[in-house]
Amino acid sequence: MRMRKKKHGAERINACSEFLIQNTTINTDNVNEIYGCDTARPLWLEIGCGKGAFVSKLAERNPEVNLIALERIADVAMLAMERCKAAELPNVRFIIGDMAKLWDIFEDHTVDRIYLNFSDPWPKAGHAKRRLTHRNFLAEYRRILKPGGAIFFKTDNRDLFDFSVEEFRDCGFRLENLTYDLHGSEWAKDNIMTEYEKNFSEKGFSINRVEAFTE
Ligand SMILES: C[S@@+](CC[C@H](N)C(=O)[O-])C[C@H]1O[C@@H](n2cnc3c(N)ncnc32)[C@H](O)[C@@H]1O
Repeated sequence: MRMRKKKHGAERINACSEFLIQNTTINTDNVNEIYGCDTARPLWLEIGCGKGAFVSKLAERNPEVNLIALERIADVAMLAMERCKAAELPNVRFIIGDMAKLWDIFEDHTVDRIYLNFSDPWPKAGHAKRRLTHRNFLAEYRRILKPGGAIFFKTDNRDLFDFSVEEFRDCGFRLENLTYDLHGSEWAKDNIMTEYEKNFSEKGFSINRVEAFTE
């Protein structure tokens, strides 16, 4: 995502600091503390949340779920945090950084769901390892997901989708609810549109979607 550098970025991020997770690992013992809740709740993670249209709506619809949104571009994460702050969502937290460098933050089997929405396609074959559905990433997702946990993946990019489905299958994930036309499918009514999804579907692209379960 390209974006002109925002003015007063550090101050604006600081003003949302209650939404930021920093300098801590995430495990099943401390997760309630992070969200200030006393009962165990599911933990869902969105990787590459962009400006936060999806995660904010998901949090609003699922107040009994704790959400972490991860975004590597600070100015983009800032807009997502400001959106969640304005909506007074108590169940979302953010991590600013690159997922590829953040594995240590998540202890084994802490996450129930991972959402990957319109991940960068990295079309060149030589860049395949950077795709967020490359098998190297899938191995780490499997480690941090709880047994029976799932990855929810959608993209307009058919090449990335086909690559990802093959990676999921080769890595032993069980696939469910696969569609090449999400908006024309039975799942359309519950679908939460992301910023990219709105943009691409308005241009006539159909949206591919699949759920990949660890077992
Ligand atoms: C194509 S945009 C999609 C944004 C949003 N998910 C949507 O559907 O509107 C991909 C986003 O993922 C972020 N991103 C890509 N790779 C990432 C990584 N390894 N770790 C964290 N964020 C990443 C990018 O900075 C960008 O904001």
